[in-house]
Amino acid sequence: TRRPLIAGNWKMNLNHLEAIALVQKLAFSLDEKQLSDVEVVVLPPYVDIRSVQTLITGDNLLLGYGAQDLSTHPSGAYTGEVSGAMLAKLGCGYVVVGHSERRQYHAEDDELVAGKVRAALANGITPILCVGEGLDVREAGGQVAHTVAQMLAGLDRLDAKQVGEVVIAYEPVWAIGTGRTATPADAQEVIGALRAELASRFGEVAQTVRLLYGGSVKASNVAAIMAEADIDGALVGGASIDAEEFARLCRFP
Ligand code: 13P
Repeated sequence: TRRPLIAGNWKMNLNHLEAIALVQKLAFSLDEKQLSDVEVVVLPPYVDIRSVQTLITGDNLLLGYGAQDLSTHPSGAYTGEVSGAMLAKLGCGYVVVGHSERRQYHAEDDELVAGKVRAALANGITPILCVGEGLDVREAGGQVAHTVAQMLAGLDRLDAKQVGEVVIAYEPVWAIGTGRTATPADAQEVIGALRAELASRFGEVAQTVRLLYGGSVKASNVAAIMAEADIDGALVGGASIDAEEFARLCRFP
């Protein structure tokens, strides 16, 4: 059985003081039972990570944390970049890779994204590989083919064991920040196809890989999404920076 994972991608929101306040609120809104049933992870901006680490480790909070991006390079003259080793040193368990906002605004292509997946794994950090189609592809009915191809490109050069260490997030671009959620059946259609593809390429490890849905997930719709057979969690944007909403969302079971 796959443990549900709810990850909050804060995007470019909350400075380190606001980050501390949010994590504190989450810590007292969610009890130990809830945090053992569901894995809850926060993904703040880089500048917040040290503060979040200090709070979580200092108080033994049952919350995971990670980053929203990393460099493909181990170190060197890459101004503005942050390496996987630096994130690992801060105890990051997860890193988002290939978010549609980075693909769109920072011209990240599949090859770069695959390099970031490998960089995360090389540093013992679980990549959350984001895939998903735009509105044009959805309207032409190409969502499964597009998303499967994007996933395989992101997993380029990995063996089955490494694939078992990746989390995949299906985030249809038209559902991100729009309030327009995919129906649970729409999400299951694509996520089921992703798992079937993983099974045919990599074998039984496909049954352990966690596949998340992302795109306008809220406390009010998470349970229906999570009820689908192949959906193991959610990657949450807007609703993750409101402590009460996110805590309610994490209490879905
Ligand atoms: P929203 O939940 O704000 O739609 O964002 C989803 C997302 O992009 C998470 O990575």
